Amino acid sequence: MRVYYFLFFLPALFFSCGGNTSRKPEPTGPISGKDIYNANCVTCHGDDGKKGTLGAADLSKSMMDKKTQFVTIKDGKGAMAPMKAVMADQEIYAVIEFLETLKK
Ligand code: HEC
Repeated sequence: MRVYYFLFFLPALFFSCGGNTSRKPEPTGPISGKDIYNANCVTCHGDDGKKGTLGAADLSKSMMDKKTQFVTIKDGKGAMAPMKAVMADQEIYAVIEFLETLKK
């Protein structure tokens, strides 16, 4: 009899503590690069990417490739704080796509 109880509780245990061991932030809703930019980047880089607070690079002119942008956003650079604690990878990709719209 005891073994049946065990089998019954096993899936419950698995779902309650299984899986999500990583502490990576997960996106909480639909991902909009623009919203993410406005929430996390605008203070230093400005609406148009040109603001330059704390010597922030002009994102409307940046020639940095997407791979380097990803690392820069994730791990930070100079006065720019790393975003990996607050942004999921998918959000970083979305914001990188948004950066393209600042280049004219
Ligand atoms: C605290 C102010 C601050 C915030 C917030 C900030 N940045 Fe920056 N960012 C900087 C500074 C300063 C630099 C220049 C770093 C250096 O070169 O030393 C920079 C550089 C960059 C670069 C490199 C550009 C190049 O050509 O060198 C990218 C890309 C970038 N930021 C994107 C973002 C994005 C996307 C966000 C929001 C997720 C963001 N930044 C938020 C200050 C900030």
